[in-house]
Amino acid sequence: MMLHVIFALVAAIPLAASLPAKPTYRLPVAMLNVLSESDDCVLPVGFVVQNFQIWTPAPNNKQSINIDFELIDDSTGINTPCQFNETSVSSGPSGLTARYACDNPVVQFIWEDNVLTVIEKACPGSSSAMGFEASGSVTPPLTCVPTSSNTTFGAGSACFSSEYGIPQNYTSLQPSPQN
Ligand SMILES: *[C@@H]1O[C@H](CO)[C@@H](O)[C@H](O)[C@H]1NC(C)=O
Ligand SMILES: *[C@@H]1O[C@H](CO)[C@@H](O)[C@H](O)[C@H]1NC(C)=O
Ligand SMILES: *[C@@H]1O[C@H](CO)[C@@H](O)[C@H](O)[C@H]1NC(C)=O
Repeated sequence: MMLHVIFALVAAIPLAASLPAKPTYRLPVAMLNVLSESDDCVLPVGFVVQNFQIWTPAPNNKQSINIDFELIDDSTGINTPCQFNETSVSSGPSGLTARYACDNPVVQFIWEDNVLTVIEKACPGSSSAMGFEASGSVTPPLTCVPTSSNTTFGAGSACFSSEYGIPQNYTSLQPSPQN
């Protein structure tokens, strides 16, 4: 009888470990209303920035910066490539720091001072008038090599993250800025 109980407890451990993680940020009260109206909403908890690469032009080279990575969020099931290049246009309101949409536009990113901020819409399927977004930042540990003027983009610096997958929690959830 005792053994039976112990086996039951041991068997229950993997189940508990696979329960969805809880966000580390505080939920604004207005977000609780959105949650109560959309039963299928899964809050974004955290993400992994994978295979981060950035090419930066030399000072006399007029080419655009190029950024490439994949954004994976197991909590919401998102896995999308993200890029910045000469055709990229900010998808945020003018007057705010430029933010760029990933292939899946539920995710956007900001690159500033070697910090990558990832922004993910929370409950993108919600019909609520007020949108919310989770955000979190990583500083990829970059390893760089110079590129010569003979290469496609010309003189510059090609860098990649020496950490292939960088896990991070979303640290805030706020109303999305209005356009
Ligand atoms: C530039 O980035 C966009 C996404 O923002 C992508 O669709 C396009 O293929 C990229 N262009 C090049 C030349 O990589
Ligand atoms: C660039 O190309 C020139 C001529 O095609 C060559 O002489 C030079 O060595 C090349 N430079 C590099 C860094 O590869
Ligand atoms: C995310 O938050 C969880 C729970 O607080 C913590 O255990 C985990 O270490 C955090 N992950 C990262 C990458 O900071």
